[in-house]
Amino acid sequence: MEAIYIIKNGKPEIAFERRKINLSPLKNDEVSIEVEAFGLNFADVVARLGMYRDCPPLPTVVGYEVVGRIIGKGEEVQHVNMGDRVVAFTIFGGYATHVNTNAKAVVKIPDDYNTGKALALAVQYCTAYYASHIATNVLEKETVLIQAAAGGVGTALTQLCKLKGCKIYGTAGSEEKLQYLKKQGVDYPINYRKQDFSNEIKEKVDVVFDSIGGKSFKKGLNLLNYGGRMVAFGAASQLEAGNFFKKVKFGLSFGFYHPAMFIMNSKTLAGVNMLKIGIHKPDILQYCMQNVVKLAEDGKIDPYVGQMFPVEKLNEAHTALENRATKGKVGVYW
Ligand SMILES: NC(=O)c1ccc[n+]([C@@H]2O[C@H](COP(=O)([O-])OP(=O)(O)OC[C@H]3O[C@@H](n4cnc5c(N)ncnc54)[C@H](OP(=O)(O)O)[C@@H]3O)[C@@H](O)[C@H]2O)c1
Repeated sequence: MEAIYIIKNGKPEIAFERRKINLSPLKNDEVSIEVEAFGLNFADVVARLGMYRDCPPLPTVVGYEVVGRIIGKGEEVQHVNMGDRVVAFTIFGGYATHVNTNAKAVVKIPDDYNTGKALALAVQYCTAYYASHIATNVLEKETVLIQAAAGGVGTALTQLCKLKGCKIYGTAGSEEKLQYLKKQGVDYPINYRKQDFSNEIKEKVDVVFDSIGGKSFKKGLNLLNYGGRMVAFGAASQLEAGNFFKKVKFGLSFGFYHPAMFIMNSKTLAGVNMLKIGIHKPDILQYCMQNVVKLAEDGKIDPYVGQMFPVEKLNEAHTALENRATKGKVGVYW
């Protein structure tokens, strides 16, 4: 049994080290999984760079999702069996050949379901599902703005909002990604590295999904219609805030708000952190996992797999994600 540890913060070449591991004894509500592949998420890059507050102290194994087979199960576990192929949301520890995880975060998938698509269903589709069905419930035909829409969560949000017949504004950072957004059904793709999205959008929107933070958050909030909802779930632009002063400036760039501004205009600000949901509300995570797997089985959503890398190319995969060179899901197989 092996895992990829982060041993230092910095570039992948110095950050990662492959080590032997032993699994801790299986708890009654857990399953053991022999891992076929694990998913990469933007938070892994932030953790590697030492900018992720929730990351455990180093050396540590990150990774929020795996696809594999059940090789052990606790006494309380009923809904999956030995040998089942499953997708699992893991609270860290996913970059490994074997993991133990709470069975509520595990859903059975067909033997022939594409591995990369299955990985996407864990963190990225669950986050998108939680953001669009629980943090706020997007209504039929509403107008929505999805930031970083070509990414993993962005693609998932696009597909889930499309199911509700929404009019979608989607931002991305290259012309190639804009073409991808058109194919995904984004009505108004905007290259936010060339144009100010807040000038390009000439109407108020009902829901903004913001994963960029800083000025993007503030401008998005200003675009909200009466009754509008802002769902904030990330701050990707923090990677540009290198030193202490830039970090302070970045923090201030979100703006300052008083509840009266939300009450007077009937606006909502919701925050999402799926890690906290997974730890403190496992039933809600299970609800999201089961719903997205069902939507995929019914052909209503279809995750896009940007690239699957062999584990020997983990550094390349991480660099691509950090450099904004990926679309949809990025996964790594053993
Ligand atoms: N709160 C939660 O529970 C939760 C869960 C999952 C993900 N997230 C957040 O949701 C966002 C998307 O996650 P993901 O895993 O699906 O990643 P992703 O969207 O596939 O990749 C991140 C994307 O962010 C965009 N970006 C904008 N500014 C950036 C910058 N300064 N540096 C790097 N990338 C930048 C890039 O797209 P463009 O090239 O198009 O700009 C990049 O491809 C991330 O911010 C992540 O932290 C939050």
